[in-house]
Amino acid sequence: MLDKHEKFQLKSIDDMVKKIKTLGLTMPISANVDALLQSVKLGDKVIPNSMAIQPMEGCDGTTAGEPDELTFRRYRRFASGGAGLIWIEATAVVPEGRANPRQLYLCHQTKDGFARLLDTIIEAAKAQFGSNYRPYTVIQLTHSGRYSKPEGRPAPIIAARNPYLDGNLPDDYPVISDEQLQELEDRFVEAAELASQIGFDAVDIKSCHRYLNSELLSAFTREGNYGGSFENRTRFLINIVDKIKQRLGDAIEVTLRLNVYDAIPYPYGWGVDKEDHRKPDLTEPIRLVKILRGKGIRMVNITCGNPYYNPHVNRPYDSGPYIPPEHPLVGVARMLEVARVVQENVPDMVVLSSGLSWLRHLAPYVAAGCLKEGWFKLAGFGRLAFAYPDFAKDIIEKGALEPNKCCIACGKCSEIMRDGGKAGCVIRDAEIYAPIYKAGREGKPPIQSNRLAEHV
Ligand SMILES: Cc1cc2nc3c(=O)[nH]c(=O)nc-3n(C[C@H](O)[C@H](O)[C@H](O)COP(=O)(O)O)c2cc1C
Repeated sequence: MLDKHEKFQLKSIDDMVKKIKTLGLTMPISANVDALLQSVKLGDKVIPNSMAIQPMEGCDGTTAGEPDELTFRRYRRFASGGAGLIWIEATAVVPEGRANPRQLYLCHQTKDGFARLLDTIIEAAKAQFGSNYRPYTVIQLTHSGRYSKPEGRPAPIIAARNPYLDGNLPDDYPVISDEQLQELEDRFVEAAELASQIGFDAVDIKSCHRYLNSELLSAFTREGNYGGSFENRTRFLINIVDKIKQRLGDAIEVTLRLNVYDAIPYPYGWGVDKEDHRKPDLTEPIRLVKILRGKGIRMVNITCGNPYYNPHVNRPYDSGPYIPPEHPLVGVARMLEVARVVQENVPDMVVLSSGLSWLRHLAPYVAAGCLKEGWFKLAGFGRLAFAYPDFAKDIIEKGALEPNKCCIACGKCSEIMRDGGKAGCVIRDAEIYAPIYKAGREGKPPIQSNRLAEHV
């Protein structure tokens, strides 16, 4: 398994510099990783260093939506791993918007479970780094929209018809109504209030990866109050932000994980060049981020793509459901570049970048280079954290990552999710996740697992 991947890995900084040049990319690199150790001020709080763990669903809550044994294990490992910010995974605000029957769901009945999760995080971090240490915590609130699967079977709730994503949905499949959206706004506000009472530092109004709110941003063809114009397409998000601010004031920081580039053709994708969806056009995303900044939003987590439709854009990989049309380094560079452009436009905001895990042990050098050059202020790590939960500790203490502990971008954590299992790293946390992966694969048609195309 590892040998197959070996071939595509960049072995050293020099190797990476050469490949960046060959591919005609721009990516700052710093051999000194001290920039990752810098704390970041956010409002009146301090994020103890510049490394963030991205939201990563474990699909391992109870059926009621509370964190369960493996959820606690994951976050305990993250917290004692030293990342300054822990962005807690997609957490549904209504049962019908859950992406799987074990997705976390925040409501009055599950509130205590989330309080225990936050305690676990804080205690594990203190035990490792001292009583004054506290990682910054964000909880991601979501409605899975067209990817809702609350009972384990697809039960899509769509904001607009989309020829690229509709698959075999019947022609008369309903679109969520304006009234339902308006009610849903209040469910986000209620969940934000619970998150504030529990003591999370921030709530993320998830607006990415083509789940409901992300889909609304691209609802060019939708009629009514939530479709068509920029004002209408951003209404759901803006209303939620306004209502939370109205109800909670500054009691909790409001943030968002935002797709700035869907890589789906216009008028069905957002942040895309109208003539060529392979190119981002960040005009609208930047306009939105500036409006949000005016409403007191101080941090934005930037991401791209759709994990179901174009996963190579969303999480550059070596091995996945299809051979990607580009070298994974091109995908990494795109993720970093869009974060750079957003940060340039809102210099006083804290911009967090995505998509670094494919770089494996070289990720810290790119992240540090970007931080030094002001491309963004926080470096986010997703799959790397599943594989190597204490990656930040090694960066802080040793100035480097151990190659044999890094994510190998094999896509198995995503495959577990698609198979309906509990997600984690099959390679580096094999004792727990290899049997889960194997069980999920058994009895199912083999999914083509291609290596990176030889020709890219
Ligand atoms: C198994 C799995 C679960 C994920 N769950 C979430 C999630 O809950 N919310 C979210 O915004 N992104 C989620 N993502 C996307 C990651 O946060 C991240 O954007 C992606 O993996 C690319 O970053 P990386 O290269 O550091 O892994 C998930 C990705 C994977 C592989």
